[in-house]
Amino acid sequence: MTNTNNSEKPRNEKPRNEKLRNKLKNPFKFGSIVDNPYFTNRVEELEQIKSILDSDVHLIMMSPRRYGKTSLIMKAIKEINRPVILLDMQVVTSEVDFAEQLLKKIHKLFPYEKIKTFLKSFRIVPTVLINPISDEINISFNSNKSGDIALEDVLNLINKLSSKSKRLIVVFDEFQAIRKIEKRMENRLRSILQHHTDINYVFLGSQESLIRDIFENNKSPFYHFGYLFPLSKIPESDFQTYLQKRLKNISKRYIEISEDILKFSKKHPYYTQQLAFSVWEELIHEEINNPVEIAIGKIASYHDVDFERMWNTLNRTDMKILIGLATSKNLPLSDIFLQNYNIGSSSTAYSSIMKLTREGLVNKSQKGYEIEDPFFRQWIIQKRNF
Ligand SMILES: Nc1ncnc2c1ncn2[C@@H]1O[C@H](COP(=O)(O)OP(=O)(O)OP(=O)(O)O)[C@@H](O)[C@H]1O
Ligand SMILES: [Mg+2]
Repeated sequence: MTNTNNSEKPRNEKPRNEKLRNKLKNPFKFGSIVDNPYFTNRVEELEQIKSILDSDVHLIMMSPRRYGKTSLIMKAIKEINRPVILLDMQVVTSEVDFAEQLLKKIHKLFPYEKIKTFLKSFRIVPTVLINPISDEINISFNSNKSGDIALEDVLNLINKLSSKSKRLIVVFDEFQAIRKIEKRMENRLRSILQHHTDINYVFLGSQESLIRDIFENNKSPFYHFGYLFPLSKIPESDFQTYLQKRLKNISKRYIEISEDILKFSKKHPYYTQQLAFSVWEELIHEEINNPVEIAIGKIASYHDVDFERMWNTLNRTDMKILIGLATSKNLPLSDIFLQNYNIGSSSTAYSSIMKLTREGLVNKSQKGYEIEDPFFRQWIIQKRNF
């Protein structure tokens, strides 16, 4: 398009966008914990969580992967200004490792002088090396035996350090991973934690079936240990407002674009942010007609190798179920679905869905089941169409 009048330059001409790029920062964020200005809504959840943390009841929060559990709990804790220790159970390898990692976190919260005397009274005294320059600490129990004793001493230390006026909050992230660490650990942990009265424990989990088994099965040591809080997606209208506000200054079609983003991401917090981030990058470069489509294509092709590798690990029934979920609106256990995708019986379909759900490839949704990653869904659709 030619236009000689500078003041009337159309938006999609580069110089204007380059100017904009220098002025603006991509307002979306994905992949790590979010807080303001990236955090949206969750007003009711925040209030409820803060109120539980103010009580003597422990909290168990579960949702599928990347719905925003860690972001939400950290925001609530920040708002009530309480000391927190967060331990990701996925990276714990043994009871001793658990004890060592917790001790390191304790040291970050409390000066060494304060914990020194307690350490001396441990039944297995740890070796503590402090780097005098960086103040980094290295703690080791020098033994892989007696992990239960190390664990008990460290947890009881946390209890001693917590006080009524400044109650500690201890968050175990991805708690279901405890089932992969040591067999008796769940039992031991429960028998220690139940005596701690000045701490709020928070258990986060992303595998619903495991979390339910840990906290809802009456044979499990953590049976009914706290308040079970299932976290849902961010409501559509709030996400819509959030997107529109951030896209308004780079596109005239911001309303339509926001709708398209949510339609594709199905309001999944992480994927919505991921797509919005890429759409913004497209738009800041140039105001194109189909930024959502372009961004989806780019993200899907970026993950092509991963998707292909994942696909090749699946058995035939899993593949059929995923193809069906990607391309049809019918419920996966309905006769028509089984017939259309040539799946032998509803019990075969059911066990495949359960397996795919456990592995995090499929999530339970209001309307049945959906493929967790919308880009993977798109990848399947594209492969089938070619
Ligand atoms: N309240 C929110 N507002 C906007 N975006 C959010 C919000 N909560 C989460 N997100 C998006 O989802 C992503 C994942 O958030 P977070 O890591 O807190 O989730 P999680 O449930 O703890 O994930 P995981 O299962 O990997 O532990 C964030 O990086 C962000 O893009
Ligand atoms: Mg998390």
